Amino acid sequence: MQNEEIILQMKAITKTFPGVKALDNVNFNLHQGEVHALLGENGAGKSTLMKVLNGIYQKNSGSIYLEGNQVEFKSPKEAQEAGLAIIHQELELIPYLTVAENIFLGREPKKGFLVDFKRLNEKTEEIMNRLGVNIDPQSKINELNIGNQQMVEIAKALSQDANILVMDEPTSSLTPKEIEILFDLIERLTAEGISIIYISPNGGNFSNL
Ligand SMILES: Nc1ncnc2c1ncn2[C@@H]1O[C@H](COP(=O)(O)OP(=O)(O)O)[C@@H](O)[C@H]1O
Ligand SMILES: [Mg+2]
Repeated sequence: MQNEEIILQMKAITKTFPGVKALDNVNFNLHQGEVHALLGENGAGKSTLMKVLNGIYQKNSGSIYLEGNQVEFKSPKEAQEAGLAIIHQELELIPYLTVAENIFLGREPKKGFLVDFKRLNEKTEEIMNRLGVNIDPQSKINELNIGNQQMVEIAKALSQDANILVMDEPTSSLTPKEIEILFDLIERLTAEGISIIYISPNGGNFSNL
């Protein structure tokens, strides 16, 4: 995939926390439609690099270019609006809400002042079909296993039109079967032109790819 266009470039990124230099002059390029694995031991700075990318943390120095244009995201919301989504190591779903309510939280289709639940569930169904996964939009998150919860996070990112998706250690609590489903899904997403940054604590998981 090296011939594909570079859609994201991080140059000489440095980030310090009190007493810790988490990132020291880090360079990172992402090509369109590729899965770029970011490997490194615990504490290497992988999550920090991604949090600098999407505006959770502000970098001390360095620059970030999205499709050639310099960007300075001040918040994850700004990054999301530019098509960048992160699925964090700790999933961020609300357990007692439904799949559909989680995916469209704060962006629910309305009928007058009320949530249009029929439309909400239909839109969720459409995304699940696109992902090729079979999850009932009306299930509560706390009724799903971790693998399906992660699919919901991915569905949420897609519903926001993400074209760069960061997965931070996605397989850490998945079963081998769930990992297989995730890898199939990653293939499907990259075939659509979505670029993926895949963070792994070590090379071990890649024996499955
Ligand atoms: N919010 C924070 N405040 C202080 N130190 C942090 C913070 N986030 C990360 N660090 C430190 O930065 C370093 C890199 O952490 P992290 O990016 O989480 O590594 P990784 O994701 O590769 O395991 C570690 O030394 C960690 O303790
Ligand atoms: Mg991490």
